[in-house]
Amino acid sequence: MSPLLVLVLGLLLPLLLLVLRGRTRREDEPPLIKGWIPFIGKALEFVKDAHKFLKEHKRKFGDVFTVQIAGKYMTFIMDPLLYPNIIKQGRQLDFHEFSNRVAPFAFGYPPVTSKFPGLREQIKRSFILLQGDNLTPLTESMMGNLMLVFRQDYLDQESSWKTAYMYKFCSSIMFEATFLTMYGKPASASRHSGMSVLEKDFIKFDNMFPLLVAQIPIWLLGRTKAIRQRLINYFLPHQMSCWSHSSEFIRTRFEMFEQYDTLRDFDKAAHHFAILWASLGNTVPATFWAMYYLVSHPEALQFVRQELEDVLRLSGVEFSRDQDVTLTPAHLEKLLYMESAIKESFRLCSSSMNIRVAQEDFSLRLDAERSAAVRKGDIIALYPQALHLDPEIYEDPETFRFDRYVQNGQKKTDFYKDGQKLKHYLMPFGSGATKCPGRFFAINEIKQFLSVILLYLDLELEEGQSKATLDLSRAGMGVMLPAKDVRFRYRLRPV
Ligand code: HEM
Repeated sequence: MSPLLVLVLGLLLPLLLLVLRGRTRREDEPPLIKGWIPFIGKALEFVKDAHKFLKEHKRKFGDVFTVQIAGKYMTFIMDPLLYPNIIKQGRQLDFHEFSNRVAPFAFGYPPVTSKFPGLREQIKRSFILLQGDNLTPLTESMMGNLMLVFRQDYLDQESSWKTAYMYKFCSSIMFEATFLTMYGKPASASRHSGMSVLEKDFIKFDNMFPLLVAQIPIWLLGRTKAIRQRLINYFLPHQMSCWSHSSEFIRTRFEMFEQYDTLRDFDKAAHHFAILWASLGNTVPATFWAMYYLVSHPEALQFVRQELEDVLRLSGVEFSRDQDVTLTPAHLEKLLYMESAIKESFRLCSSSMNIRVAQEDFSLRLDAERSAAVRKGDIIALYPQALHLDPEIYEDPETFRFDRYVQNGQKKTDFYKDGQKLKHYLMPFGSGATKCPGRFFAINEIKQFLSVILLYLDLELEEGQSKATLDLSRAGMGVMLPAKDVRFRYRLRPV
């Protein structure tokens, strides 16, 4: 964090202390942890240590406790057996109150209020276009774009070993292929010019994302405002209207925003930029971890590659150095072990805190016997990383086991805690009605990416590097990035 930021946060401290609410405790409230986290800078430190902090407090205070963070009361639910009950109480626990505060602040569009009648409902309806029957054209388009980028950047080279940075490699391919799939191509070319500049700006913005989620004003974050401005400008309507082959999802949203005179062109563009982040901010690190774990476990990589080759052979799919491979959603569905490896990397590297805001004072039902009083405005947080790393649910939880989610040739879905089967055993995508609408597409595109690299490339980690570790600065906010990029070697396979 820059010294200027530290200074300003220090000056803000007394002000923040003033706004901290004290309140008289009621008996039926969860235990309140003393030693609250007084201001945002501290809250960010808390984020980095969240896993350790929450584990310790669970040991001391049980499965439900409240922490005061930057003046807000946050009640953590640590027992995954309680999750179904909490998720059911969606009427009193709202996700959008939180997301409608955080997202406009981070992405620069005006909050979706009654100033834009019907907009919130239309935005919600647009999410259907990422799922169900709409998933097929999206997935097919992604396949074509992935091969386009991969062929031009990697396949048309000679076959000697080359070295690259893995995160950079995943990011450049997934960024452009996803961009083309969602937003389309320019009028007279198959690829947009300036994509690598856009990607670099995106990465700079993404690095600041945790600070924006913590509501630190963008003017305090160096050049972030100018970078965001450039990113948003890319999506101005006069520019987007020249692109062809965009997804139904983006086309529908484009037309939807055009209906609102109260939205400036810049606001519309900022909404499109928010979707760029939603579709890549987690997908790129998730792709990295799936690739990293496979490349660093050669026996798993070989098994997953064999499964893929078997599926393609049995379906009569042909491909070669000159002929692009095509994997349809039906092929992808058959890749059980690859899916398991992806889920396993989600388990190890995702930390998506599920945050809900209490809409009224009410009694939160925890299970048949217990409930806890919460007050209007309190935050209820589910912290799935605790369950992902719980040795009672996942034996040897720190270890990557690529086949953890397969049993007897089927998807394994039964995981237990206290002898009871868990309804929610893996939660990278949130929960309930607001669960990530892009989750099916995300899994498909990661499978497609892995398929392409496993079929066309031999892959090895470069020797002499330490294991990749997690950058904890976005713990609780989605899939974590690696603390440091990893070097690997690749060469074209004889196909
Ligand atoms: C590995 C990849 C991804 C992960 C881990 C992920 C995770 C999440 C999470 C945790 C949420 C919040 C849900 C909640 O708290 O209830 C979310 C929301 C969302 N995601 Fe994803 N996501 C991924 C990929 C995608 C993709 C590819 C798209 C679009 C193409 C997408 C679009 C969205 C949207 C639009 C929302 C907001 C939903 C709302 O406001 O109700 N996501 N995602």
